[in-house]
Amino acid sequence: MRSLVVAVVAALLVAAQSPSPTSSVSSISGAPPPNGTATAPTNGSGPPTFAVTLASTNPTAIPLASIVATLPVTATTIPLPTSETAGAVPTGVAGAPPLPNILGINPKDYPPLDHPPPTDSPEVQQWIAQLSNFEFPNISVTQTGGCPNNTDAAKDPTRCWWTCGQCFQSTDIVTCPDKLTWGSSFDDGPAPYTPNLLNYLNQQNLKTTFFVVGSRVISRPDYLRTQYMSGHQIAVHTWSHFPLTTLTNEQIIAEFGWSKKVIKDVLGVQPIYMRPPFGDIDDRVRAISAAMGLTPVIWTSGKASNNVSFDTGDFNIDAGTISSSGVLKNFTNILRNATVINSGFIVLEHDLFQQSVELATGYVLPAALAMNLSIQPIVQCQHMPLSNAYLETNDNSTNPLPTGVGGTPLATKPPSSTGGSSSSGSGGSGSNTKGSNGDVKTLSIGILSSMLAALIGSLAVCC
Ligand SMILES: *[C@@H]1O[C@H](CO)[C@@H](O)[C@H](O)[C@H]1NC(C)=O
Ligand SMILES: *[C@@H]1O[C@H](CO)[C@@H](O)[C@H](O)[C@H]1NC(C)=O
Ligand SMILES: *[C@@H]1O[C@H](CO)[C@@H](O)[C@H](O)[C@H]1NC(C)=O
Ligand SMILES: *[C@@H]1O[C@H](CO)[C@@H](O)[C@H](O)[C@H]1NC(C)=O
Ligand SMILES: *[C@@H]1O[C@H](CO)[C@@H](O)[C@H](O)[C@H]1NC(C)=O
Ligand SMILES: *[C@@H]1O[C@H](CO)[C@@H](O)[C@H](O)[C@H]1NC(C)=O
Ligand SMILES: *[C@@H]1O[C@H](CO)[C@@H](O)[C@H](O)[C@H]1NC(C)=O
Ligand SMILES: *[C@@H]1O[C@H](CO)[C@@H](O)[C@H](O)[C@H]1NC(C)=O
Ligand SMILES: *[C@@H]1O[C@H](CO)[C@@H](O)[C@H](O)[C@H]1NC(C)=O
Ligand SMILES: [Zn+2]
Repeated sequence: MRSLVVAVVAALLVAAQSPSPTSSVSSISGAPPPNGTATAPTNGSGPPTFAVTLASTNPTAIPLASIVATLPVTATTIPLPTSETAGAVPTGVAGAPPLPNILGINPKDYPPLDHPPPTDSPEVQQWIAQLSNFEFPNISVTQTGGCPNNTDAAKDPTRCWWTCGQCFQSTDIVTCPDKLTWGSSFDDGPAPYTPNLLNYLNQQNLKTTFFVVGSRVISRPDYLRTQYMSGHQIAVHTWSHFPLTTLTNEQIIAEFGWSKKVIKDVLGVQPIYMRPPFGDIDDRVRAISAAMGLTPVIWTSGKASNNVSFDTGDFNIDAGTISSSGVLKNFTNILRNATVINSGFIVLEHDLFQQSVELATGYVLPAALAMNLSIQPIVQCQHMPLSNAYLETNDNSTNPLPTGVGGTPLATKPPSSTGGSSSSGSGGSGSNTKGSNGDVKTLSIGILSSMLAALIGSLAVCC
């Protein structure tokens, strides 16, 4: 039997950080302290304290010690809170078109699941042609294996490769402007336990951002419709969840293009925000993203947070490489770090596996609620309405679509230049996997795990 050190979850973790004598830190004391422990009081000298406590739990939470890799599925999936019909109009998205009819949607009309889409299809050829005027930076494709397997690229500051050193550009969203405001997100779904998360969020009247994988949208379109109609933000997380810097320009175009298309086919709107899987983005990926009207969103990291990556590690409980109490410890560190930065923050969490959903609904979100953190979808924490999450409803005058990377406009080719695809780097991803039509969940998880393994060693595990 695995000997897990069962942390005292309810232990009080108090951070009384004083970033500087002059900076003012809001006072957020915790929930009623558990079992007689007390939060550190604000004593009037110096900045008020911020007490971080994970004491509050959902009364229906399954015990922390039972959220393990080999989770017995005792907690069953629960039905979607609602079922959305064609023609319904979302109330929270001003100007949104009615939901389309999805009865005619056939997965056979989309690329194979969990695999970078082929680039020779008519759809992808058309998207490539639409971008033929752009000249993307001549930055080489990376090998799988992250920083240790790409030593030159890892050292090259000109490509601003997030994976090696957490470099980001001013055109990436990595924080929320208002201190102690949490731009909430869940990645990698829609998945079997997404309804459990949705039910909890709806009960608590919480809204979040879902970075969805195209392969899973075509597998669970009803889930996506409920997420969208419940007032959550929907954003792109690629078609296959491969690390984008390992893909050619054409493959990246295919990843973004199919993701936008499947979401538009299911919802009637297409997102203008995207998160690169594993945070794996460089200036080549950024330029393609901008050319396709997508603004990158990473989680708080790098120079935004003294190089602390606001990654809970929740994804790795399933793999057995971190315990649920370890994830809560990470989350405590994240909240403590949130008190010493001068902005709000964005945290990496997932709804792909049961474990991370149990942890979020049972422990993490109840604790954050008890601390009165302001929890919002990422577009709204940027002081924008939910309608600015989608191309069709975006207020283009106040929220112009991206036109460049970090202040540098996208380069365009002279009009005479033809040939469509400007492929930088060489070859394909080299990571083709068998296009099996096996069980969606198993396949997704298998691929994700292998891609995750490929990146391990580069830095703190993330996806
Ligand atoms: C706190 O008290 C409850 C019951 O009142 C108990 O179940 C729980 O284990 C206690 N937690 C700690 C950390 O002592
Ligand atoms: C949180 O907000 C509620 C309602 O406004 C208030 O009663 C409670 O005291 C607040 N708790 C903390 C820790 O600030
Ligand atoms: C107030 O708290 C700070 C830090 O927690 C401590 O350094 C200081 O001595 C305390 N002041 C008083 C008057 O208790
Ligand atoms: C791109 O860079 C490679 C070396 O990294 C070079 O061999 C190639 O000529 C460059 N291509 C263009 C179009 O500049
Ligand atoms: C490192 O890159 C080489 C190709 O240069 C590749 O064959 C190998 O699989 C990569 N290693 C990992 C761990 O991905
Ligand atoms: C963060 O990491 C970068 C790149 O590794 C380094 O240059 C910088 O000094 C670090 N900053 C802090 C505050 O540690
Ligand atoms: C989370 O905690 C584990 C140890 O339990 C650590 O290995 C990992 O780096 C942490 N993750 C982050 C993002 O800090
Ligand atoms: C920030 O998080 C790191 C670990 O990720 C931790 O070592 C550090 O103590 C935290 N900072 C604060 C102010 O709590
Ligand atoms: C914003 O621009 C896009 C494309 O350029 C357009 O489709 C959309 O209708 C515009 N938004 C509004 C609210 O008009
Ligand atoms: Zn992901």
